[in-house]
Amino acid sequence: MAGRGWAWTAYDWDEGRLFNYIGDTQNTFPIWNATPLVALDVYEHAYFLDYQTDRASYINAFLDNLDWRTVNDWVSKYQIQK
Ligand SMILES: [Fe+2]
Repeated sequence: MAGRGWAWTAYDWDEGRLFNYIGDTQNTFPIWNATPLVALDVYEHAYFLDYQTDRASYINAFLDNLDWRTVNDWVSKYQIQK
């Protein structure tokens, strides 16, 4: 599976669980009735100045710096089942 630009983790209200989605651009979120909790831009312009072609290090740094407390607060706010 491959995607060009974005990855999202979102809660699907119809399925009642989290899914990871891939997508093209930031304005083409393709899933209805889902609440995005994490969105990651993986187009080259997002990381190339700092990481050149090392996309994996960019993704690791993103996850290391992600404010999980905020994500968890959204899970609580939207009453998402764990
Ligand atoms: Fe972007």
